[in-house]
Amino acid sequence: MKQFEDNPPFQYLTILMKNNIDIVLGIETSCDETSVAVLDKGTVRSNIISSQVVHKEYGGVVPELASRAHMKMIVPIMNAALEQAGVSQDDIEAVAAVYGPGLVGALLVGLNFGKSLAWSRGIPFIGVNHMEGHIYSTFLEDEKPEYPFICLTVSGGHTDLLYIKEPLHYERLGRTRDDAAGEAFDKVAKMLGIGYPGGPVIDKLALDGNPGAIQFPRSYSQADHYDFSFSGLKTSVLYYLRDRKLLAGSGSPVAQSPELNDICASFQEAVVDTLMEKTRRAVTQHGVKHVAVAGGVSANSRLREAFRKMAAMDNITVYFPPPEYCTDNAAMAAYAGWLRLNKGETSPLSLAAVPNLNVA
Ligand SMILES: Nc1ncnc2c1ncn2[C@@H]1O[C@H](COP(=O)(O)OP(=O)(O)OP(=O)(O)O)[C@@H](O)[C@H]1O
Ligand SMILES: [Mg+2]
Repeated sequence: MKQFEDNPPFQYLTILMKNNIDIVLGIETSCDETSVAVLDKGTVRSNIISSQVVHKEYGGVVPELASRAHMKMIVPIMNAALEQAGVSQDDIEAVAAVYGPGLVGALLVGLNFGKSLAWSRGIPFIGVNHMEGHIYSTFLEDEKPEYPFICLTVSGGHTDLLYIKEPLHYERLGRTRDDAAGEAFDKVAKMLGIGYPGGPVIDKLALDGNPGAIQFPRSYSQADHYDFSFSGLKTSVLYYLRDRKLLAGSGSPVAQSPELNDICASFQEAVVDTLMEKTRRAVTQHGVKHVAVAGGVSANSRLREAFRKMAAMDNITVYFPPPEYCTDNAAMAAYAGWLRLNKGETSPLSLAAVPNLNVA
């Protein structure tokens, strides 16, 4: 490793002597999913995900428990990914591992494993930004976004609106000023006492609710910027429940209330309206014809329906990741890494984990 640090051109020389890189092993351990994938020319040959159940009883991810679970699972998950892809370690031409953003202890497991694997096999290594992975998860479908496009990344820790003019270049138009959209889903689900993660549960309950039943606020909807805010909405739900003595744990849990479906549907509608409004404005202002929506919240059925309607009305094309690639997975990291590797990029083996890494 020291040799590379002292003499970086040596590392780049050995790597650039190779032809195009086709078979990439991707590693994702930024939060509570241990995932390894094998991609061949950008096509997924395997994508194994182990979701940590240990956090369920805490209603959120416990960092130390996440790191320990990654350490236990990383080797078996890699072996399963190789087996499913029908390849051996000898066939892997490069390793791509997420180095941020995320929990530092969790990131370190996958990053160091990936660096060690690349070093021991004498193949290139590339560090990948987890959010860049989410963006490129929309390229795992046959029909891929065309440049330039607007990308809305809505996940557990991020709500970003980006203008993407060319591959791997990002202009940030807006971001959340407080809670991320996924975080709001999770916190509201906690108040309702309906489980973690909250997004999929609220999505399901909302199917039988009236989205117009309660008028929750749409923050910044008229503001002349592209930033988001979801903490006011979250507080509004809290006050609504408190005033009706419906807060989870207050003796009259909302989980048994006939209003539950309407609350879920109305909250979800406020989130969807806010995300749609800003994205639509960005599309118009930048004159683009293509929009991608990525991250865990992009699995939301109402959000997909609303974007598809907008696309049809405004004559634009909207792209979502395949459902299994909305939340964290290594296939998206391998895809972004594959793009960078074939531009001639590699990362030094001294690359550190960066918990608050940004894309722009
Ligand atoms: N159907 C759904 N509707 C709404 N939200 C959903 C749905 N499915 C998942 N989510 C939300 O997606 C989030 C998880 O997404 P993801 O795995 O992309 O986030 P993360 O990796 O924790 O955060 P980040 O990517 O910002 O670091 C959770 O907040 C979850 O509630
Ligand atoms: Mg994520």
